[in-house]
Amino acid sequence: MTVSATTPPRTDDDWWRSAVVYQVYVRSFADSDGDGVGDLAGIRERLPYLRDLGVDALWLTPFYTSPMVDGGYDVADYRDVDPLFGTLTDFDTMISDAHALGLRIIVDLVPNHTSSAHRWFTDALAAGPGSPERSRYLFAEGRGAHGELPPNDWESIFGGPAWTRIDDGQWYLHLFDPAQPDLNWRHPQVRAEFEDVLRFWLDRGVDGFRVDVAHGMIKAEGLPDVGFSTMTTGQRQVDLLGKARLPYFDQDEVHEIYRAWRPILDSYPGARMAVAEAWAETPQRLARYIGPDELHQAFSFDFLDATWSADSFRKVIDTALSEATVVGAPTTWVLSNHDKQRHVTRYGDGVEGLRRARAASLLMLALPGCAYLYQGEELGLPEVLDLPDELRQDPAFLRTGESRDGCRVPIPWGGELAPYGFGPAGSELSWLPAPATWRALSVAAQAGQPGSTLELYRAALRIRHDHPALALGAGPVTWLESGPGVLAFSRTAGDNVLTCVVNLSGAPVLIDGYGEPIVASAPLTGQGAGHLLPVDAAAWLERR
Ligand code: GLC
Ligand code: MG
Repeated sequence: MTVSATTPPRTDDDWWRSAVVYQVYVRSFADSDGDGVGDLAGIRERLPYLRDLGVDALWLTPFYTSPMVDGGYDVADYRDVDPLFGTLTDFDTMISDAHALGLRIIVDLVPNHTSSAHRWFTDALAAGPGSPERSRYLFAEGRGAHGELPPNDWESIFGGPAWTRIDDGQWYLHLFDPAQPDLNWRHPQVRAEFEDVLRFWLDRGVDGFRVDVAHGMIKAEGLPDVGFSTMTTGQRQVDLLGKARLPYFDQDEVHEIYRAWRPILDSYPGARMAVAEAWAETPQRLARYIGPDELHQAFSFDFLDATWSADSFRKVIDTALSEATVVGAPTTWVLSNHDKQRHVTRYGDGVEGLRRARAASLLMLALPGCAYLYQGEELGLPEVLDLPDELRQDPAFLRTGESRDGCRVPIPWGGELAPYGFGPAGSELSWLPAPATWRALSVAAQAGQPGSTLELYRAALRIRHDHPALALGAGPVTWLESGPGVLAFSRTAGDNVLTCVVNLSGAPVLIDGYGEPIVASAPLTGQGAGHLLPVDAAAWLERR
């Protein structure tokens, strides 16, 4: 069966259709000044590493002025750099160096909520109920005889009620932490402000935006109850995501916002793009965020959520490819990010998890469309599961006991002592401690080592970039005959055929029929009688 992706061939303007984008979680990537926190100058120093790795673009998580309650997703000034991360000048130097190396820069935009330290919110608190200042946020009277109950039953994604009461008796809405008040996107000033923020960063040369909580900005009129709460059912409202429409997510009116943004992006030279972090009930509803008059891409989280089985991968790949065809946009694959347990650990952790993670990465990189890598996956980093509670900083931890800190531990670059070259020579500080096992996983420990995960990524990215069957990010995925538990598909350009085989079957499989192996996530065995692909491994084979 052939599932086509209608991606046209790559031109410079279409770079995002087939790009490999590397997510930099700024505070954990590289620390230039030794304060234990990654920064923009640190990224700048490591740009050659990223160029040599073979990625096309970087997505930087928020580095704007912020009290850092939610790692910078609580923005107090959208037009400045937090001193923790540097200055606007550091940003300008970093982006100009990146461009000189052929790397594009995507920045994070956080439009659903501001920080409670944002001037607009402090003004709103000061101005009192009914004031124009309050109308930029979602303030409301409470229920109950004295307004002592929240205005509705909405729950915060980070746990607990989505409302906080202030001294004068009113409540304000925060879908995330109380330090992240939701904006009122029906207010013209809010819309105008963000259009201006887009221009501010476009003027500074950014190539795109990752839009945070892109499905959340519009809330249903009248703020109706969900009618389902953790209190009554023991199941969190947020777990309904993808199963039911919530009054605070994926409202039709949100698309008006993107239809206003697109002409702004298109008015700049070069191709400036935007990718939605959106969660919707169905892949069809997710696809509505994408198109020539809205955003360019939306992350396909179904791939990230797929379990380690051939059927599960096959299903999400087919669905994503057919949705992509409908909207004429490329698919967007993700295995890890700063919000999810790293895929080494999701697939079983330890030796088995790493084997599977390496195989899944080869699978992802052979698919058409755009792939997003999360810093450290090229080193095969696992989730750090045993961080001491007192060091955890994720605001969700205090409210739910779940923490995303384990995927945010600073990158090990080299050296014998923690934090393994994260900071300048001799610096011992890092905002989260790296485990001792990471000494052997550092960039320096893996570079040039045959069989290391870093060298596997470098090889795969080189082939993906150069091989005609992969390079354009286009061309159909043709599923091939394979045994149970084995995924095999080819990509074709003219006479060039590249086949990717992933073995999830539990027993080695013969793969010679598919062509000549050019890269594999684990050593192939049985050379004499034919190549055998071991269990939990993937290989790319070519035929001309
Ligand atoms: C997005 C971010 C996450 C953040 C949340 C609130 O989901 O990826 O890190 O906590 O939005 O801004
Ligand atoms: Mg620093």
